[in-house]
Amino acid sequence: MPVVAVVGAQWGDEGKGKVVDLYARHADVVARWSGGANAGHTLVVGDERIVLHLLPSGALHPQATIVLGQGMVIDPDALLAEIDALDARGGFRLDRLVVSERAHVVLPHHVALDRLRERGTSALGTTRRGIGPAYEDRVGRRGVRMGDLLRPERLAARIDAAIAWWRPMLEAAGEPLPDRDAVLERCASWAKRLGPYVGDASHLLAEAIAADRRVLLEGAQGTMLDVDAGSYPYVTSASVGAAGIPTGLGIAPLRPDRIVGVCKAYTTRVGAGPMPTELDEPLGSRLREAGGEYGATTGRPRRCGWLDVPVLRRAVRVNGLDAFAVTKLDVLTGLDPLRLCVAYEWDGQRLEEPPFDDLDRVRPVYETLPGWHEPLGACRRLDELPAAARRYLERIGELVGRPVTLVGVGAERDDVLGTTDPFTSANRASTRRSGDAL
Ligand code: IMP
Repeated sequence: MPVVAVVGAQWGDEGKGKVVDLYARHADVVARWSGGANAGHTLVVGDERIVLHLLPSGALHPQATIVLGQGMVIDPDALLAEIDALDARGGFRLDRLVVSERAHVVLPHHVALDRLRERGTSALGTTRRGIGPAYEDRVGRRGVRMGDLLRPERLAARIDAAIAWWRPMLEAAGEPLPDRDAVLERCASWAKRLGPYVGDASHLLAEAIAADRRVLLEGAQGTMLDVDAGSYPYVTSASVGAAGIPTGLGIAPLRPDRIVGVCKAYTTRVGAGPMPTELDEPLGSRLREAGGEYGATTGRPRRCGWLDVPVLRRAVRVNGLDAFAVTKLDVLTGLDPLRLCVAYEWDGQRLEEPPFDDLDRVRPVYETLPGWHEPLGACRRLDELPAAARRYLERIGELVGRPVTLVGVGAERDDVLGTTDPFTSANRASTRRSGDAL
């Protein structure tokens, strides 16, 4: 049962797209279990920069079946734009994509509500893609699922119920109510184009797993944005961690053979909320420019800071991470010395993990390490890295108690060193916790 999951270990934007793109070369199926078009996975292929918001990064590998799971919320226009873009690159085979009939649809009123709230004083800095309101309609039992698009006779009542629910809020804000007939018309055109992709993803995945096919599960966002494990309320509205896999894919709870956590060699965050290791100027801007730290979905500048190990410890524990992929190590070139936040001080105590609610009151405890000045882009083996870069990685591994098995050293898809086929050792449970470092 070679099932490998890739999970964000920070506040999203860790470079999961690049890791999945490498791993997906060896996969038969690549599936996403949560989130929607709030995600933005950037891939650099030659001169091309490809940004995917809904399709898993594995979509670029033609041998892989790609699955959008039932835990996702899907903006049909965004999905169609991605399918068209991939089609223009060289033909997109219809039988490659399965969109779960149970995934929820992001409707125009979700986007309107998200934007409306972001104008208010309690703005969270969302991506304004309608994600929160779509998940609210899901748990409020008035959502529209992808499969409902194909059953117009039931659709009108669902849409009426959702509009009726949100009417007071929209009216109070002086926002126009969605025009039910216009929404129904859009649903009909989505059904026509997306209908052939909508299917029973739950069975497909169960069969793939039972048949020992190589299944890669692609996380979106990161653990600190998980609705339960993250820095609530500054989180997204989904279970983005590994715990969301079974419900988000409609499969029986399983322990993937390997769960790889992805983190940058430093920390970034977009949107509001506390970030203990955030850097002051001018260092913050320096990191932002060196790393191109602008949102792939919204273009917003990302907040930048030193690597926060307590956050990674949380990710290890709640996701059961086996190993780490550390991306963008090259961005730290020239920053000397480097600092690593190894713990927090809070209320006279030393904390190894983020506290329940006081992330804005903790003081980072830093360790200082020497930096390096050599460019890393050409390094393909650990022993080609400068000694200080090796030491930095080693120290991360020691502090999180997990091996670092993949390291990103540049923007191109192959600018990496380490294990790029996670399936080879996926069945050897004994290597999970100890071996397999670079
Ligand atoms: P929402 O998911 O658009 O509702 O946004 C909720 C919070 O999650 C905001 O702070 C967003 O900036 C953040 N967020 C959502 N998706 C991503 C992502 O893919 N990368 C980084 N932050 C994200």
